Amino acid sequence: MEARIIDGKKLSERLKEDIKARVEGLKQKGVIPGLAVILVGNDPASAVYVRNKERDCNQVGIQSRVVKLDEDTPQRELLEYIYKLNADPTIHGILVQLPLPPHMDPNAVINAIDPSKDVDGFHPVNMGRLVIGEECFEPCTPKGIIRLIQETGQPIAGKHAVVIGRSNIVGKPVALMLLRHNATVTICHSKTVNLKEITRQADILVVAVGKPNLIDGSFIKPGAIVIDVGINRVEDQLVGDVNFQDACRVAGWITPVPGGVGPMTRTMLLENTILAAEKKWAG
Ligand code: GUN
Repeated sequence: MEARIIDGKKLSERLKEDIKARVEGLKQKGVIPGLAVILVGNDPASAVYVRNKERDCNQVGIQSRVVKLDEDTPQRELLEYIYKLNADPTIHGILVQLPLPPHMDPNAVINAIDPSKDVDGFHPVNMGRLVIGEECFEPCTPKGIIRLIQETGQPIAGKHAVVIGRSNIVGKPVALMLLRHNATVTICHSKTVNLKEITRQADILVVAVGKPNLIDGSFIKPGAIVIDVGINRVEDQLVGDVNFQDACRVAGWITPVPGGVGPMTRTMLLENTILAAEKKWAG
């Protein structure tokens, strides 16, 4: 068997066409959707992510505002910026790029964002709504993962979905979203015993660990949908958490790295920003 590739790049380009149309719709009502991105410090990877977000916004007609703060900025000053953006009617979405410098408390910073502008979906109000099944901003990577799974045409309901990783950004929310789609969900993590025994039962396997080549074909149920969330730099190459070549022999569908989850995360941020602007306009 040779797995079919779920092309996140192609799907995200298609979705961007819809987003462009929604931006046009908003502009005709006199609304220019605006996204503020705050970058604190000099982390090179974060700088690249923020530049990409700016580029994505330009591509679809969203106005982006990047706020760059020094590494040693006091947390109080960052909170002041957030409060100003909360009150700014031209800004519909606010994103604080993570990780933050060690002297800052990321929870306190996220809590300061107005939940109606929390396009990352990280605020406890949005997370809480996700848990109880209310309408909310869904975090971008999990939202993109669900779209990638749906792209296979296979139903999620009734399937056994196994998520490896329990981060607040990916593992926990994607597990909740799969549950919302009526999958039977198992969450595995670094203390899980007999990982392979569990993953081999997965109809849908989501791997979000950050360890290159952790998962090979021997972990995969034949025909499974495999979503690789890992982005690891190995000898100047980007690789996922899944050994792609080997997994392809067994899986039914698989996302590549790069070109799978990454582009979808970026596109879901645009979609959440439009959603925030549409909700604000509708009152
Ligand atoms: N750093 C890595 N991923 C993310 C993300 O999805 N949102 C934010 N704000 N920072 C990140």
